[in-house]
Amino acid sequence: MPKVTHLECSLCQRQYPSGEVAHLCSCGGPLLVRYDLEAIRKAWSPAQVREGPNNMWRYAPVLPAAEESIVTLGEGMTPLIRARRLGARLGASNLWIKDEGLNPTGSFKARGLSCAVSMAVELGVRKMAIPSAGNAASALAAYAAAAGIEAHIFMPRDVPQANYIECKAFGAFVTLVDGLISDCAKLVAAGAAAEGWYDISTLKEPYRIEGKKTMGYEVAEQLDWQLPDAIFYPTGGGVGMIGMWKAFDEMQSLGWIGGQRPKMIAVQVEGCQPVVRAFERGERRSQFWENASTVAAGLRVPKPLGDFLILDAVQASGGTAIAVSDGELLDAGIQLAREEGIFAAPEGAACVAALEKLLASGFLKPAERMVIYNTGAGLKYLEAYATRFPRANSGEQDKLGGLITPR
Ligand SMILES: Cc1ncc(COP(=O)(O)O)c(C=O)c1O
Ligand SMILES: [Zn+2]
Repeated sequence: MPKVTHLECSLCQRQYPSGEVAHLCSCGGPLLVRYDLEAIRKAWSPAQVREGPNNMWRYAPVLPAAEESIVTLGEGMTPLIRARRLGARLGASNLWIKDEGLNPTGSFKARGLSCAVSMAVELGVRKMAIPSAGNAASALAAYAAAAGIEAHIFMPRDVPQANYIECKAFGAFVTLVDGLISDCAKLVAAGAAAEGWYDISTLKEPYRIEGKKTMGYEVAEQLDWQLPDAIFYPTGGGVGMIGMWKAFDEMQSLGWIGGQRPKMIAVQVEGCQPVVRAFERGERRSQFWENASTVAAGLRVPKPLGDFLILDAVQASGGTAIAVSDGELLDAGIQLAREEGIFAAPEGAACVAALEKLLASGFLKPAERMVIYNTGAGLKYLEAYATRFPRANSGEQDKLGGLITPR
């Protein structure tokens, strides 16, 4: 089946050839992968999707990697869970949680990195590098290990412990940086030039977004090719939101859905809300958020490169952008756990707190079909949740999880 036709700049529409290591357009715009959707439409159908593998590669005709390059750990096809008890308490009778915490390495980042590492294999890349708030690093480390590729990781020194340990366990080269993801990105760019690493920073290459867009295909498939009325997405770099928005357009071109779109709701945190601020001001570009700080590590992105793509999707869909506090999101995460049995990452929990606010303000109506993306597993954020459940007198021995060790 014909697949990718070219890469296209999301800012100036300039075209680039596919099948090469690619970065930003010469104008600075992120590149997007374009497909021959007319040809794919004739050769592929939802019925065939159903017969595909039970992971995101069931959508292989709209993914860039050839079959023999695919590096998979079973990412995607995460459950879409009806949240009845939470919904009843908040006054939302048609509420769903897409639980991305069940992906390999415990977050939705697995989708983007499965795709990016597959493309690295296809393009003959041997060394990859990433600046990360944490979960993207873990995912790169895992997929690079599976592919036998070197992973060079730069993350803030105060990254959640789970991310650091995972990266080390997967055998990655890890540098802890005294700074934010934006500082890590500068080190990756410098190393890429000097060491020949493939810099896969958010949106600086076109393939991670292709993996993440499968969140949009899946929600449609799981709702029988109907999109919901609203989607809550915890927005750091915004790649998941941009990817889903792209997926909806592709699905419409394939004739699988109509023109209706969910209200796209970008959820951020009070300590780092550049997209919310730009939305409120009616601007298309965000301003660098100084002194960004939050327990939701993945949302600590002071200036997303694809801010205009996030804001375009939010605007065009009639959605909104909203920030919640760290206290509110931890409360919401614990409520979600108690009412639904889902232990969410703080980023996913932030969406629950945002839902509460948007129902209270009347922006959302109780019967609307709403989907919250819980982008990661709460288990990866024990430091954050431990602030709510301190253990009295717990020594190092007690942290060993029941191992019998000499005292
Ligand atoms: C759990 C989690 N949720 C959300 C995000 C934000 O992702 P995006 O870049 O798609 O906005 C991240 C990014 O690190 C994350 O780890
Ligand atoms: Zn351009």
